[in-house]
Amino acid sequence: MMQATELHAYYERSHILQGASLMVEDGEVVCLLGRNGVGKSTTLKSMMGLVKLASGSVVFNGKNITNLPAHSIARLGFGYVPEERRIFPTISVKENLLMGMKEAPPSNSGSNGNRWTLERIYEFFPRLRERNAQRAGTLSGGEQKMLCTGRALMGNPSLLLVDEPTEGLAPAIVTQVERILSAAHHDGTAILLVDQTMGLALSLGNRFYVMSKGRIVFAGSSVDLIADEQVRKRYLEL
Ligand SMILES: Nc1ncnc2c1ncn2[C@@H]1O[C@H](COP(=O)(O)OP(=O)(O)OP(=O)(O)O)[C@@H](O)[C@H]1O
Ligand SMILES: [Mg+2]
Repeated sequence: MMQATELHAYYERSHILQGASLMVEDGEVVCLLGRNGVGKSTTLKSMMGLVKLASGSVVFNGKNITNLPAHSIARLGFGYVPEERRIFPTISVKENLLMGMKEAPPSNSGSNGNRWTLERIYEFFPRLRERNAQRAGTLSGGEQKMLCTGRALMGNPSLLLVDEPTEGLAPAIVTQVERILSAAHHDGTAILLVDQTMGLALSLGNRFYVMSKGRIVFAGSSVDLIADEQVRKRYLEL
């Protein structure tokens, strides 16, 4: 579905992505793991057209989308939950969620025909239902994170890139995030997940990549990852 090959990206003179390659197949949950500052967020941003690639390619459903503008990529059926919460602070929770629908391409219902609606988002995140009419800027950090996840799903993406959706969330809410991502996965949405909560990654992930210094240093299943003590100690500290 999506193949990223030999990605290189810079911020000014710092060489951040140093040849990372990874792919996501139809309907898969792929987890990208690694310590702070190794380039995980930059990888997602480069796929979304938010960071320019100096070289390498991103191919999505056979189409070369390398360095296309972000709005063109979003229209192809990508959903994106950025690490830094990007909500519209002056409009309500409900209006933020509906914006996700407006930004979306017309027809990306899941393979089982399920589509995301306000009601379905609120079933997974009752807190957002309670805050439905509240201005989004007054939400707590964790609530804003839930809102970002909900808004991305409202676009019924075929591929969802999620950057630390559980950062700063209480364990009960982490479970809600796990349930909503799992539901999206069952609908047929492919997910590329960056998250520090290993429990979440292990419960959702079909395949795992570990990144270090802008390169992929491990690719495999959860069984392979758990078995590879050297990779875990060196790159993940588990
Ligand atoms: N806009 C920017 N300008 C300059 N340097 C940046 C910028 N964004 C990130 N960096 C640097 O690039 C490196 C990779 O950052 P990135 O955010 O991709 O890491 P990460 O793996 O997502 O880390 P974390 O786990 O902390 O979120 C870091 O050293 C970071 O300081
Ligand atoms: Mg990051």
